[in-house]
Amino acid sequence: MAALLEPSASEPLTSIRLAQPVDAAALASFAARTFRETFEADNTTEDLALYLAANYGPERQAAEIRDPGIVTLLAEDGRRLAGYAQLHEGPAPDCVAGAAPIEIRRFYVDRNWQGRGVAQTLMMASIEAAMEREAGTVWLAVWERNLRAQAFYRKCGFADCGAKEFLLGRDRQIDRVMVRAL
Ligand SMILES: CC(C)(COP(=O)(O)OP(=O)(O)OC[C@H]1O[C@@H](n2cnc3c(N)ncnc32)[C@H](O)[C@@H]1OP(=O)(O)O)[C@@H](O)C(=O)NCCC(=O)NCCS
Repeated sequence: MAALLEPSASEPLTSIRLAQPVDAAALASFAARTFRETFEADNTTEDLALYLAANYGPERQAAEIRDPGIVTLLAEDGRRLAGYAQLHEGPAPDCVAGAAPIEIRRFYVDRNWQGRGVAQTLMMASIEAAMEREAGTVWLAVWERNLRAQAFYRKCGFADCGAKEFLLGRDRQIDRVMVRAL
C-alpha cells in the first residue's frame, strides 16, 4: 500500500503556499543547499562560499519574506520543502521591453523533484502571483551555462531577450535574460 502513496511522475504530491517569517530558517538552509548543488560542479569553492555567505541565512530570508516588494512561494512535499520561487518588484534590464515587468529572481526545485512537474506547478503559481501584482511582463536571468533551466523556461513560454552580468563571489558571469508577456 505504501508504494501507492509514493509521488509519481504524473502526480506530484506537492502544494504551494506563501512563505511566512517562521519558514525563514528552513528556507535559508534549503536555498543554500539547492544553490550549492546546482552550481558547485562549475564554480570554485571560494566563489560559492562568498555568494552563499552574502545571500543565505535565517535573518536574510526572514527579511526577504517580510519585504513587501518580494513574493516568496514554497512548494512542499507534506511538510518538507520541494522547491521555492521568489518574485521581486524592481527595475528591469533595458532588453525587457514589456509593460509593468516583475522579476522571478529565484526558482529552485530539489533534485529529487526535478523532472516530475513540481517546477511547472511552481511556475504557474509564480505567474498567478505576478498577475495578482498587476505585472504585464515576467523576466528572469539565468546563467548562460545553465541549459536545463533555459530549456525549462522556454517550455514555460519565456524567450531570450539579451544578457546581463552576474557576480558569483569574485567571478563575473554572463546571464541570459528571458522574458514572457502575461
Ligand atoms: C530549472 C528547474 C526548475 C527546471 O525544473 P525541472 O523539473 O528540472 O524541469 P523539466 O524537467 O520539466 O524541464 C527541463 C527541460 O530541460 C531538459 N533537460 C534536462 N536535462 C538537461 C540538460 N542537462 N541540459 C539541457 N536540457 C536538459 C529536459 O529535457 C526538459 O525538457 P523536456 O521536458 O522538453 O524534455 C530545475 O531543474 C531546478 O531547480 N534546477 C536547479 C536550480 C536552477 O537551475 N534554477 C534556475 C536558476 S535561474
